[in-house]
Amino acid sequence: MAGIDAARTTAGPAPLTAGMVADYHRDGFLLLPGDHLPADVLAELIEAAPLILAQEGPQRVLERDGVTVRSVYGPHRTDPVVARVSRSPELAGAARQLLDDEVYVHQSKVNLKAAFAGDQWEWHQDYINWRDRDGIPRPDLVNVTVFLNEVNEFNGPLTFIPGSHRHGLLDGTDTDSMPAGYEDEPNWMATLTATEKFQVDRTVIRRLAEAGGLVSPKGPAGSVLMFHPNVLHASSPNLSPFDRGMLLMVYNGVRNAPRPVENPRPDFLAERAVVPIPLAV
Ligand code: SIN
Ligand code: MN
Repeated sequence: MAGIDAARTTAGPAPLTAGMVADYHRDGFLLLPGDHLPADVLAELIEAAPLILAQEGPQRVLERDGVTVRSVYGPHRTDPVVARVSRSPELAGAARQLLDDEVYVHQSKVNLKAAFAGDQWEWHQDYINWRDRDGIPRPDLVNVTVFLNEVNEFNGPLTFIPGSHRHGLLDGTDTDSMPAGYEDEPNWMATLTATEKFQVDRTVIRRLAEAGGLVSPKGPAGSVLMFHPNVLHASSPNLSPFDRGMLLMVYNGVRNAPRPVENPRPDFLAERAVVPIPLAV
């Protein structure tokens, strides 16, 4: 691992320096190098990914072509390697520093973005789903992403508008209908496909990008990318011959526990039990 710094906001492991924490709050994202996780842990994760992606069930979402796996949700609940990694000081400790709170995993997923066939994620912010569908009161969550392949300019890297998280939730339009090709699926599927359900106004996206620019963090397998639930982000289809697998864990602060909602999403999409991850002090 790259090195533990003494800067800490809560007791326990603190893998981020004070400068990294400040960069995250300024930009809304932070990329850590490929050696952030121990090499044996990364190797186990990469080995586990095909097994996770092969598990059929409602937690597995296909691309619009109906055959390519797009995402598998909830692997921290079902896969022992992901469960262990999600509770590691390198990731949970970093999330705790960024949120300045004890943390638990609200959601996890593997997004494959398969070679040739992996589809886009349109411009969006994540928090609107976690607020409106899961009852989470504040945007005090963080996405922690581990690259399972090299991510480069060819295979559909995540793209951010730096600083856009500081504008809060942006104006947009919520679509009620199910996206084409998913008409027979349960309605929670509408937020998981290549057609974005909550469309941020393009004039707003253009204005923010003109001011803040665009950044696509890239790096080898093992790189860890953290991003804020309100940072505006998107990713292009993968036309390259190389998969772009990513494990994403969404940590929430325990002080930000979800409130009751009328129709809770399935537990592989939204954790209802708030149990802090114990980290050694
Ligand atoms: C992606 O995997 O490119 C998108 C992930 C996200 O929007 O959270
Ligand atoms: Mn997102």
